[in-house]
Amino acid sequence: MRLLVTGASGYVGAGVLRRAPQDWEIAATYFAHPIEQTSVAAFCVDVRDVDAVYQLFDQFRPHVVIHTAALMTGDQMMSVNADGSRIVARMATKFNARLIHMSSDVIFDGEHAPYDETASAAPITPYAESKARAEELVCAEYSNPIIVRTSLVYGFNPMDPRTRQTLDGNFPRLFTDEYRCPIFVDDLADALIELAQLLRAEREISVINIAGPQRLSRYEFGVKLANAFHVEPKFQPAVSASFATPRPRDCRLDISLAQSVLKTQLRSVDDVLSDIRLV
Ligand SMILES: NC(=O)c1ccc[n+]([C@@H]2O[C@H](COP(=O)([O-])OP(=O)(O)OC[C@H]3O[C@@H](n4cnc5c(N)ncnc54)[C@H](OP(=O)(O)O)[C@@H]3O)[C@@H](O)[C@H]2O)c1
Repeated sequence: MRLLVTGASGYVGAGVLRRAPQDWEIAATYFAHPIEQTSVAAFCVDVRDVDAVYQLFDQFRPHVVIHTAALMTGDQMMSVNADGSRIVARMATKFNARLIHMSSDVIFDGEHAPYDETASAAPITPYAESKARAEELVCAEYSNPIIVRTSLVYGFNPMDPRTRQTLDGNFPRLFTDEYRCPIFVDDLADALIELAQLLRAEREISVINIAGPQRLSRYEFGVKLANAFHVEPKFQPAVSASFATPRPRDCRLDISLAQSVLKTQLRSVDDVLSDIRLV
């Protein structure tokens, strides 16, 4: 298997590199932060650079692409997330590679949860708009991508930036009325790898929700993390609805499709925290 992982210097992409079978040939892209793992072929590529993406595909000839590269903030979000995804999808079509595209639960407005795979995007933030547009462009460029919609991704080895900031007290307030389905990074990575393998067996899935089974408010999640690490919560409860900028309130994803087609267990936060040893 030749697997191309875009955004492999990021949290999810790095998780895929850690969990991928050792006998797979892997190419991994980064942009500003070089990849530390030496067992993969690393390429510095801006996904908006059509010539660079073409050369990458031409050189590596992937069977499967897991496209995680994206920006969460800033004025480049639309170009990187939407236009960059279009270019990756175009090259996946041109080089006959199967495409797994990472999307997000925040493409929904948060007022109609739970969301299954048939739910229509209704983005209410600039990041969400860029991710919803990415889905549209990917589907326009590529006839049968797998769009993976996920939720808050967390993990401890290494620790994801949001958990680190929560424990360090960098978020003075956490919302009690904003619900997500956090997913452990190893579970998400294993599910993505399983999907890459299912593709070889020609299983057709167009959209799949891969998230945790436990809906938690950001505040509840923060408290669970603080308790697990035996630190005093350094944040106060707050109400998202009282903020001037609208944010999607409840983005709970229905994961019954993933639970029926994947062997990978998508564990609840409670199960993960009781399963693993925290240091
Ligand atoms: N993390 C979550 O909680 C979450 C939730 C829902 C959906 N998602 C989706 O999951 C995917 C992965 O998220 P993540 O948490 O791993 O993100 P991340 O840690 O911020 O990583 C983003 C990756 O994108 C790369 N990148 C940024 N701009 C680029 C450009 N112009 N060209 C090429 N690569 C570029 C970054 O490279 P450098 O760092 O080297 O610049 C990095 O490797 C994204 O599509 C995101 O929308 C994530």
